Amino acid sequence: MEQASVKLDVARNQELYMELVRFGQTEQVRRRESPVHVKREVQAGKPGARFMVDPRLGFNNRTHRLWVNQLPPGGEEGQAWKTLGHRHTVEAVIYWLSGYGYSIIDRKRYDWKAGDVVCVPMFAWHRHVNSSDDSLDYVASTTGPLSMGLGQAVYEDELYPQFWVHAQQGEDAVRALTPGGSAAPATHDETAGLTQAQRLYNEQLSYAYHEELNRRKSKVLLKSEDIKLEATNMGRMAYLVDARIGFNVKALATVMAEVPPGKHSGSHRHLYDEIDFVLQGRGKVIIDDKTYEVEAGDALAIPVFAWHQYFCAGDEPLRLLCHSTRPAMENLGLVLTQHGENANYA
Ligand SMILES: [Fe+2]
Ligand SMILES: [Fe+2]
Repeated sequence: MEQASVKLDVARNQELYMELVRFGQTEQVRRRESPVHVKREVQAGKPGARFMVDPRLGFNNRTHRLWVNQLPPGGEEGQAWKTLGHRHTVEAVIYWLSGYGYSIIDRKRYDWKAGDVVCVPMFAWHRHVNSSDDSLDYVASTTGPLSMGLGQAVYEDELYPQFWVHAQQGEDAVRALTPGGSAAPATHDETAGLTQAQRLYNEQLSYAYHEELNRRKSKVLLKSEDIKLEATNMGRMAYLVDARIGFNVKALATVMAEVPPGKHSGSHRHLYDEIDFVLQGRGKVIIDDKTYEVEAGDALAIPVFAWHQYFCAGDEPLRLLCHSTRPAMENLGLVLTQHGENANYA
């Protein structure tokens, strides 16, 4: 019988290897040449989702994205989503820029107003309702690009059930944060007399069950009155969404930072993606050897390991919402943050 054989292409393999060797160097060029600053005019004052920073738009940031959205008034009646909403295997943080309303997340209602923050747990069904009389704006960041890059992303939408991947598997899968995760696995309590492999496999089976419990205990809403800015070497800041303060997040983290008039933040650089949204004020940001004039509504995609520092101009504080995928990189064991100059205020 004739056997099929694959020819070893030595030259091609050498080429593939050298591509890996050169990658770090060419990646530096991609980071330097990718867009960084998105002016507010590009996106302001229109209904519907408008992507500001997204790898699909040419940004070198590949782990999270940022967009702004405008919700029309009209409460439940103005909603396209009526029951489940949508869900995704990505983490999402929403900052309400104006108005008031509520979110239904995994069948629970959370009331919010401008300045509050909502963190949607992984794969929870959710929808957001504007209860005010005017259109309201919000800014959101998700780890969609990370999950999509890994080939692990699932998005499901009430309006498009033909694309459901998990929810068609029954009522339990519609309610559960992990399809099938709400039921304890049969092997869960068997701990005695197991081989190492049996024990490890059982742990694997019960992971989704425990993760489901953790997500249900997770903090979801942060009220603006509970945001306390505190002095650090980077300047005044508050951790809004972080695994260390009760949110069940593995990839995304959000902080708020403020620079008073005439002052500058600290400078630092780090091995993780950061996307900043200017909430208030105006000033400039120095990113490595370039300077960008910024104002409320602008977004900045800070390239990985680029030094960055904010300066406030004008007479109101420069306030920033900074989303990063630091936790994702920490979980991979790949974070380095280097601090440069201190902030010149406390
Ligand atoms: Fe969502
Ligand atoms: Fe940073």
